[in-house]
Amino acid sequence: MEWGMKNRLSRLIQADGKALFLPIDHGYFQGPTHKLEKPGETIKPLLQYADALMLTRGVLRNCVDPAMDKPVILRVSGGTSVVGEDLANEAITTSIQEIIRLNVSAVSMSVFVGSKYEHQSLTNLTKLVDACEDYGIPVMAVTAVGRELEKREARYLALCCRIAAELGARVVKTYYCSENFEKVVEGCPVPVVIAGGPKTETQREVFDFVYDGVQKGAIGVNLGRNIWQTEHPVAAIRAIRAIIHDNYTPEEAQSLFEQVKAGKA
Ligand code: 5RP
Repeated sequence: MEWGMKNRLSRLIQADGKALFLPIDHGYFQGPTHKLEKPGETIKPLLQYADALMLTRGVLRNCVDPAMDKPVILRVSGGTSVVGEDLANEAITTSIQEIIRLNVSAVSMSVFVGSKYEHQSLTNLTKLVDACEDYGIPVMAVTAVGRELEKREARYLALCCRIAAELGARVVKTYYCSENFEKVVEGCPVPVVIAGGPKTETQREVFDFVYDGVQKGAIGVNLGRNIWQTEHPVAAIRAIRAIIHDNYTPEEAQSLFEQVKAGKA
């Protein structure tokens, strides 16, 4: 692997082999998402606990201090919206020149396997990989399900992750599933990070699935709403960080969460 590619990946994936990516890219198809109306304010207390920030160029340019020292994963696919016809009908939205100009550590884009736009999104991935590999920039593929959340089961996720890795993604982001998640990770030759999905009823559910996912081989998370849409985002990110980087159990994470919430840690 070239030095530049290695250097960027090592900024994202920490020395312990683990990673906590904080995504705030939801506005690219959802508009001003709840608790993300002012992304710059949302991330202020959280950034110090994240290993990287995932977002679009518009939010990066307008809401994030260029002097911040966290690596950026730039979302470069889009062109659809929640009120449009089909979320899978995405294009690549950012040129390689812009990607380089913004000095990002990686880019990310969605693939929609099994959808009407499967071929389009997968060839978007291969073209992006070709452009980015020339400059040592890793591509993180997001295995997206659009509105069909029920698709989040092991056989489908394993298929998506493997295809994304075969086509050149350096990291794959996918959903956690409670059954056979280890098969998803084992079938994917590149590191896997878990997406959070819609906000859960309890914080403990998040600690449980992050813990189980990491035990089964994920290197960490790319998890947004279950941090910044919660009532106690700092407590949430610190507890999740402790599971990923300090091997906390869900019980220990819950206890840390309560302590931070109470101002005791
Ligand atoms: C949106 C994304 C998000 O980055 C991803 O879904 C993670 O965020 P969350 O934990 O809120 O699901 O790729 O398309």
